[in-house]
Amino acid sequence: MDRREAILRELNLYPLWKRRGTPAPAQHVAEPGAAIQPEAPVPVTATSAVREPESRSTALEQPVKVETSHVPAVVPRSDVAGLDWAELKQRVSKCTACKLRAGCTQTVFGVGDEHADWLFVGEGPGADEDALGEPFVGQAGKLLDNMLIAIKLKRGKNVYIANVVKCRPPGNRNPDAEEIAACLPYLQRQIELIKPKLIVALGKVASNALLGRDATLASLRGKLHDYRGTPLIVTYHPAYLLRSPSEKAKAWHDLTMAMRTRNDASGSD
Ligand code: URA
Repeated sequence: MDRREAILRELNLYPLWKRRGTPAPAQHVAEPGAAIQPEAPVPVTATSAVREPESRSTALEQPVKVETSHVPAVVPRSDVAGLDWAELKQRVSKCTACKLRAGCTQTVFGVGDEHADWLFVGEGPGADEDALGEPFVGQAGKLLDNMLIAIKLKRGKNVYIANVVKCRPPGNRNPDAEEIAACLPYLQRQIELIKPKLIVALGKVASNALLGRDATLASLRGKLHDYRGTPLIVTYHPAYLLRSPSEKAKAWHDLTMAMRTRNDASGSD
């Protein structure tokens, strides 16, 4: 068993079903017990139409359409707008704009390739991240690393990982609206500096913060969103997947959509 197969097994995503007589598609995976679906190339289509959530059996065969009806409400604060990486890191480390800094050990800025094509955005540091100063280093981080490997990515290599809030919310509660509003400009500036080709928002907090929405995760999944001209795909937060492993197949569906979106766009980069 190779490493990718082992990881797909861990994600409850094995076996990969392949159509006879065609090259093995890396991204088409059947849910356990699901019928084998024929392969179809899936173009990414820019349109304002919104694709409603569909059953998994048809979703991989449909064009991915861009949701353009919302733009993020928050714009980078002018005092963050011109900062370079070093200045931004310094600014974040000194930030006391909300009450979270008083209760955390250190700020957790982000990690990875500062020119990455792929940006993964979580919610905020947990206890492990607070102690180590790096995002996604606990159990949820291990799962995120495996999700990356499953789509042939690797932490730090063409991948950047950041959070909406840079300080640990006490007791691992969700950051509140004020905390998100105070911290979001830092993430927005990180995105401006990275210029990712694709953003994957992990969970409801990251998705709503980036899209300027207050929507359910279910209503946001399965659509190609737009963050200021950058495609954005919504999937489950790895911590949720640890609690609800039966949802991992849906997360895999989101990741295949992300891969398809990236692959389809890479020709025109
Ligand atoms: N959960 C997050 O959203 N971010 C982390 O860095 C760790 C856990």
